[in-house]
Amino acid sequence: MSDASHISHSCEDIFPARLELPRHIAIIMDGNGRWAQQRHLPRFAGHKSGVKSARMAVEVCANFHLDALTLFAFSSENWKRPRTEVDLLMNLFISALREEAASLHENNIRMRVIGDRTAFSDKLQKRIDEVETLTAGNDGMTLSIAANYGGRWDILQAARQAVTGNQGIDEEQFLRHLSLSDLPEPDLFIRTGGEQRISNFLLWQLAYTELYFTDTLWPDFDKSHLAAAMRDYAGRQRRFGRTAEQVEKA
Ligand code: IPE
Ligand code: IPE
Ligand code: MG
Repeated sequence: MSDASHISHSCEDIFPARLELPRHIAIIMDGNGRWAQQRHLPRFAGHKSGVKSARMAVEVCANFHLDALTLFAFSSENWKRPRTEVDLLMNLFISALREEAASLHENNIRMRVIGDRTAFSDKLQKRIDEVETLTAGNDGMTLSIAANYGGRWDILQAARQAVTGNQGIDEEQFLRHLSLSDLPEPDLFIRTGGEQRISNFLLWQLAYTELYFTDTLWPDFDKSHLAAAMRDYAGRQRRFGRTAEQVEKA
């Protein structure tokens, strides 16, 4: 069990203990740019502020002892943005890794990056390696940061590995090569910022995930918003193809 003693967010006040918790939450952290624009600030100010929401989400999810939190930080399509924004995002990623590493480790969180990291600068790749190595032995929550990640890329790279491994591509063999295959599938997907789309996030992995969309912009997304999403999740019936009656009996 993770040692969440350094984490200040308490749980019971925002989420009654009798409700069912998701084991794995996956979040598209969207709306940073619009948050900044509303305040007549440069888009980057929204990204910076968004780091605080990411820290909050990590703390709350670790405090609830979730198995996993997966955050979409940079998509394989986000390279199409203006060069200055991309550069600022990369620098922000580097500094966030530097600033958060010790606290992640102290809280027994295992952090890793999913996505094609070969496109990143040597400096960023090195920083990622360092934090992954530092936290690799931790057995609390797994925090996966999706960076230069695309759901289609993930499926393709898994297929390529399955083929070069010379294994037949049955589902089980194939799955082993997909990102997050060592974790329970996401139970709850959250997208902030009002758009109702997947934007090439986890395509395979979200097959039976409960989807939750909110207009709240990511920098405004706080503990109470996260708890509201989790309470919404707790009220849903997951049928996985069965009838409601079957699920109620089980
Ligand atoms: C999400 O916020 C962060 C990244 C994609 C890196 P956006 O930057 O997409 O914010 P909006 O959608 O423009 O408001
Ligand atoms: C998705 O947000 C990617 C991340 C949050 C990292 P985008 O803002 O890039 O998505 P689209 O372009 O609106 O679909
Ligand atoms: Mg966006």
